Amino acid sequence: MDWKWKTIIEPFKIKSVEPLGITTRAEREAALEQAHYNLFNIKADRVLIDMLTDSGTGAMSAAQWGGIMNGDESYAGARSYYNFEREIRSLTGFAEIIPVHQGRAAEKILFTVIGGKGRFIVSNSHFDTTRANVEFSGAEAMDFPVKEALDFGRPAPFKGNADVAAMERFIKEKGARNIPLCVMTVTNNSLGGQPVSMENLKAVRNLTAKYGIPMFLDCARFAENAYFIKQREKGYAQRPVKEIAKEMFELADGAWMSSKKDALVNIGGFLAMNNRDWSAKARQLLILTEGFNTYGGLAGRDLEAIAIGLREVLDENYLQYRIRSAAYLGEGLLKAGVPIINPPGGHGVYVNAKEFLPHIKPQNFPAQALACALYLEGGIRGVEIGTLMFGKRDRNGQYLPAPMELVRLAMPRRVYTQSHIDYVIEVFAWLARHKKQIRGLEVVEAPPILPHFTAKLRPAGKPQPAKV
Ligand code: F0G
Repeated sequence: MDWKWKTIIEPFKIKSVEPLGITTRAEREAALEQAHYNLFNIKADRVLIDMLTDSGTGAMSAAQWGGIMNGDESYAGARSYYNFEREIRSLTGFAEIIPVHQGRAAEKILFTVIGGKGRFIVSNSHFDTTRANVEFSGAEAMDFPVKEALDFGRPAPFKGNADVAAMERFIKEKGARNIPLCVMTVTNNSLGGQPVSMENLKAVRNLTAKYGIPMFLDCARFAENAYFIKQREKGYAQRPVKEIAKEMFELADGAWMSSKKDALVNIGGFLAMNNRDWSAKARQLLILTEGFNTYGGLAGRDLEAIAIGLREVLDENYLQYRIRSAAYLGEGLLKAGVPIINPPGGHGVYVNAKEFLPHIKPQNFPAQALACALYLEGGIRGVEIGTLMFGKRDRNGQYLPAPMELVRLAMPRRVYTQSHIDYVIEVFAWLARHKKQIRGLEVVEAPPILPHFTAKLRPAGKPQPAKV
């Protein structure tokens, strides 16, 4: 874009508005207690700025809403399915396009087909639902992030990359026949929404091809990744983002997508590949759990909105604003003395709670404590990525410290404006001045799988009322 000004403005005007959940501190204090200090249990209308996730929380465009009215709701052979298929095929180049209701449905189907005991899936980093679905099938999910990914404070352009040498050592050790798939998550959500370079995708492609292992993309945020490549990788500055995205897909044998991110919709996903043996098995499971081949758990109108969203997301004015917004939040937090994964990711900013709250032990969930304090003081909802989310316990039920204690501030697409972000920075600056007052938490109860969604907590060391 020919833009000579420093200010990157939101490249849209607002046609329909929703009120924010304005509450008092006392109301939020009561809400937190009622929610057992788990922000997933807070009613959304009690949240002022919701940065829990960027998944399904975006605003659709007028064109997408128009598409919703044009949705074809036929059970079989709906026109909207063919629009969806055409759009995904032209972007990814894959032959088999399977609609699903969201990303994890694709994961469940794929790993039921190719997972199982004794097998390993290798990745730059599995997202938590991906890992859970791999493990549920009996297989093991192995992450090979580059070393700089774990050096949170030090900036590097492609912290989402995979450590190719470490991956190769693992493949040699376990034998390629036990590794049915390599998955590259773009961008790398678990480690800060950081991008993967084209060079790294090519290197992983060459490695996996050498051992006959297919490589898939978990492409929930493919457009953000492609934009980072354009900005940061040599030789891509003049290339349209759409071409860069196509080049990413050309390197892969398949992909799945939670369309709730970069397809700019509130629900949906797909699984795409060329392997007809896998896709035939996947379609059997699809019909069993999701629905027929031409709707896969979605309404025709959803398929229509996804097809339009996949085109809109590649608009470079949108992507410039999108990536700049996260960077703006990151810069504001750093200035306020809040440590983050640096540089900020594509879909949000990850605060390093371990460094921010050194007085809270990992067993008392510093990132969860920070997320709760952020809600209490500012009505802002983020999400913990730390000891509670990973939930590993020893034989005595004691929590094992996770390697990281992060609070992710995810940014819904096209929803908040710069003044909302300025407010978030102001609340954080206040927290930075009063952080000694933030106290740790302890778990009252938590399930074994994906514990962070439903765990109940309470302030650590607080005397509990006697049971009558
Ligand atoms: N893969 C990645 C990289 C994701 O970020 C997500 C979801 C999924 C797969 C699963 O997709 O939610 O549609 O079933 N991430 C959301 C988040 C939940 O908040 O980051 P889903």
